[in-house]
Amino acid sequence: QSAVTSAIDAFRRGDPVCVHDAADREGETDLIYPAAAVTPSAVSRLRNDAGGLICVALGHDVAERFGLPFLQDVLDHPVADDHDLSYDERSSFSLPVNHRDTDTGITDNDRALTIRELAAAATAPEETDFESTFRSPGHVNVLRGAPNRLADRRGHTELGLALAQAAERSPAVVVCEMLDDDTGEALAPADAATYAEAHGIPFVEGRQLIERFV
Ligand code: 5RP
Ligand code: ZN
Ligand code: CA
Ligand code: ZN
Repeated sequence: QSAVTSAIDAFRRGDPVCVHDAADREGETDLIYPAAAVTPSAVSRLRNDAGGLICVALGHDVAERFGLPFLQDVLDHPVADDHDLSYDERSSFSLPVNHRDTDTGITDNDRALTIRELAAAATAPEETDFESTFRSPGHVNVLRGAPNRLADRRGHTELGLALAQAAERSPAVVVCEMLDDDTGEALAPADAATYAEAHGIPFVEGRQLIERFV
């Protein structure tokens, strides 16, 4: 079966996938999980095997309902005045949060709790009082998906959310860049594919997801 179908099946089971965006974009591979399936050992894998920034992408409608802004729109400081990303029109960063039942927020147990509770919030937004459940600043970076998903933007944010939708999961996915400990760069796609193969994780290209879903 196709890599995309394997990725959707993995997401249905709560297993991770590797997604390379595009050589002419970030050229990065993110390890991505449905947020509801994230355990402390999954957080450990994200920080040890992927090594980038652990973020939870929420669907646009859910983020809107919770009043979660784009970070660049609410930072009242000149560092946020000029949006000059080289690879996209805008960053998807929203606020960094912790669940209120966490302690320091950074441990695998604390981050897994925050991530799973973000998934629960995305599953039942009308039953969630966001500000009484989470605090900010925190140690899990929330990302906000573009309103028309892949039609608007083709980052890991939207690629991951498209997979969640296809797998009939709530619009909350954890993404983390795979980095190379030896070169100081992003992990090359071929090396990410080798990692994926060795761990039975589907590896998909952003282009394959765009062909299927747009
Ligand atoms: C947050 C990022 C990552 O690239 C992540 O993949 C989300 O961003 P994007 O949607 O732009 O790919 O910068 O660590
Ligand atoms: Zn990035
Ligand atoms: Ca590592
Ligand atoms: Zn990315």
